[in-house]
Amino acid sequence: MTKIILEKLDDPESIPQDQLEEVWGDPWQHARLLADLERTRGLVDFLARHAPGKRVVEVGCGTGLLSCIAARMGASSVVGIEPTRRYVDAQRLVEASGLSDTVTILHGRVEDFEPGQADLVFSELLNADPFAEGVVPAMRAGAAWLAPGGLLAPGELELHVALVAAADVDAEATGAAEIVTELGRTWNLNVRPLLETLEATPARTTSASWVELRSAPVLALRVPLGVPERHVESVELDLFASQKGRVCGAVLWFSARYDAELVLANPPQEPGHWGLLVTCWPRAMSLEEGERVRVRVDLREIPGVAVVPV
Ligand SMILES: C[S@@+](CC[C@H](N)C(=O)[O-])C[C@H]1O[C@@H](n2cnc3c(N)ncnc32)[C@H](O)[C@@H]1O
Repeated sequence: MTKIILEKLDDPESIPQDQLEEVWGDPWQHARLLADLERTRGLVDFLARHAPGKRVVEVGCGTGLLSCIAARMGASSVVGIEPTRRYVDAQRLVEASGLSDTVTILHGRVEDFEPGQADLVFSELLNADPFAEGVVPAMRAGAAWLAPGGLLAPGELELHVALVAAADVDAEATGAAEIVTELGRTWNLNVRPLLETLEATPARTTSASWVELRSAPVLALRVPLGVPERHVESVELDLFASQKGRVCGAVLWFSARYDAELVLANPPQEPGHWGLLVTCWPRAMSLEEGERVRVRVDLREIPGVAVVPV
């Protein structure tokens, strides 16, 4: 059973410019995601299906490669929007490729510009923490560029959750309490206040490269993109242990539908360059097969997504 709690929050702040620069100003971050061939080929094939003859907007064009590929495929015009210093690479790529008549690179966030008219507005603002790159406000602003009948891609995010027995990062959370206890015992220190602080502090959410699942995945939420309404901020749902044993937290992943053929996703079996978002609980649980764990999925854009037992 899924219970959805609607909470009204203040408008989420947008991600500070220095944070964007720190991550996406680095050309090697772009190299990393371009090298995720399944992702990059998926996007190129998607453009081959939709860009020819169309007015295209790329929200967050980074190096400008996909914008220029869309132009080579026959897009009638392309606007690539990039807020970091990488826009210079994009401009150089356009000029050096002789595409200045078709491709315009704008320096800033999509939210900063008066919308023009486009038939296709697309982005890849995905992240292990699904809202960390500001996909919700950016696609809301991107949708304002769409001419009637145009395509916004992705148009929706699905968020999935499952219990986790182990991850490459869980020892940091569950192991910390054991180490603190052991140090206290060895050196005759009363570590109770420190343990209480750890327990009272929200569970640690971090990115992992692998996890061992301990429940079937549950669809936590569908988040429509490009709509004026805010998505719900918190969802409660039940997960059932698939076998007897230890559970140290939960993993959350996204799937983003671009069209009938392209869904970009980071499922535990194949998370791609995005990695996985794991919430490691301060205390691991011992569960029987089929035992129920009720969790709350906090889907805040800031400070981020977390899955905690309730
Ligand atoms: C994951 S990269 C994708 C780059 C390119 N679209 C690709 O798929 O290879 C996301 C890019 O979006 C940019 N970005 C982040 N927020 C944005 C916003 N609000 N408006 C426009 N671009 C944004 C980042 O600076 C970054 O270059």
